[in-house]
Amino acid sequence: MSRVPPRVSAFINQKGGVGKTTSTVNIGAAIASLGRKVLLIDLDPQSHLSLHLGVDGASIGQTIYDLMLDPEARTEDCIVKVRPNLDILPSTVDLAAAEMELASSADRNNILKRRFAEVSDRYEFVLLDCPPSLGLLTLNGLCLAGEVIVPMQAHFLAMQGLSKLLETVKLVAQGLNPSLKVGGVILCMHETQSTHSKEVVAELDQFFEDSAGSGLPWEQAKVFRPAIRRNIKLAEAPSFGQTIFDYAEWCPGAIDYRTLAERFVRDWDRAHGMDSGAARAAEVAASTATSASVNERATEEIPVAAPANALASQAVTEQKPVAVRASKSVRGSKSAPEPKVVPEPSPLIPIESPRNAPQELSSATLSVEPKRVRRGA
Ligand SMILES: Nc1ncnc2c1ncn2[C@@H]1O[C@H](COP(=O)(O)OP(=O)(O)OP(=O)(O)O)[C@@H](O)[C@H]1O
Ligand SMILES: [Mg+2]
Repeated sequence: MSRVPPRVSAFINQKGGVGKTTSTVNIGAAIASLGRKVLLIDLDPQSHLSLHLGVDGASIGQTIYDLMLDPEARTEDCIVKVRPNLDILPSTVDLAAAEMELASSADRNNILKRRFAEVSDRYEFVLLDCPPSLGLLTLNGLCLAGEVIVPMQAHFLAMQGLSKLLETVKLVAQGLNPSLKVGGVILCMHETQSTHSKEVVAELDQFFEDSAGSGLPWEQAKVFRPAIRRNIKLAEAPSFGQTIFDYAEWCPGAIDYRTLAERFVRDWDRAHGMDSGAARAAEVAASTATSASVNERATEEIPVAAPANALASQAVTEQKPVAVRASKSVRGSKSAPEPKVVPEPSPLIPIESPRNAPQELSSATLSVEPKRVRRGA
């Protein structure tokens, strides 16, 4: 295992339905397929991350709720192995109660960080799927994370939401987590041909360019490329408990997420002088270069054709979208514990869970005035 600490990325946007969970699952799965150890943390009581990966928290025993509320719970006992190199710390709807139950705890902001420390040396990449609110759960994510990644749509109103989120990150970085940065924005469900989208992307690019050297947590942030095109396969895959790579590995959504993940890994490796990782990522990137290059710029028109061999592969995976899941495992010894493995699920997963949690750290309580990112500045 590398001595470089894990890249811990919190996928946050207080707006709902923007692509946080879809991005966490599929970027995590793509990184794991590169042979890197990945932990996904489901911080959302909706449990969509867990359900997307075929994990029904209600039937697997301990979850992140136990981890945060029960001092006797061991972190390794709450982790589930879902794919090679890919583990998940699942949630259930119980997690909604954690916000209130922890409200009076003096250490309430740092519980997740403290518990994660027990397993941190086992992972190279940790991705947190946060709920669409800025409550105590998200705050725990912000205290654990080294960076915030913001999935969003390229719409003008989304820019206002981003501005509020950045102010929140700044406040957290000024107090609770001084090392917190903003990694950047992932454009999800991207409308490649819309003029409005192109204008918003240009504004975002300009905003981050202008922020360079500002000393603010987003001074090194960027708009990640490629943008993730709107692709119905990404919406279908969760109902089978599958990642997009299990479900339709050469659809446009899979190509975009794979390319994004490879660059995500490559940039991290380069920043930490890890040539082997870069080389590995480059090798895989080369195999998808033909299709990925069409979406190099978020604002360009993008054809959706996959390579000829890829289409054949897609046909196979679409005919048999069987969830790839393991049966229950024997728990390992205390010295070398094995994560739990997901029980065999039903083929279709009902995604019905309550919306989440009370808001503690809302922008309003922090007195952050909404403001435009650039327009009119
Ligand atoms: N690129 C895409 N193309 C088509 N559908 C998408 C795409 N990305 C996400 N979706 C779908 O959009 C919906 C919202 O996505 P997702 O659940 O990832 O958002 P979220 O931000 O996690 O939502 P919430 O705030 O409720 O947690 C889901 O049904 C998902 O399958
Ligand atoms: Mg979600």
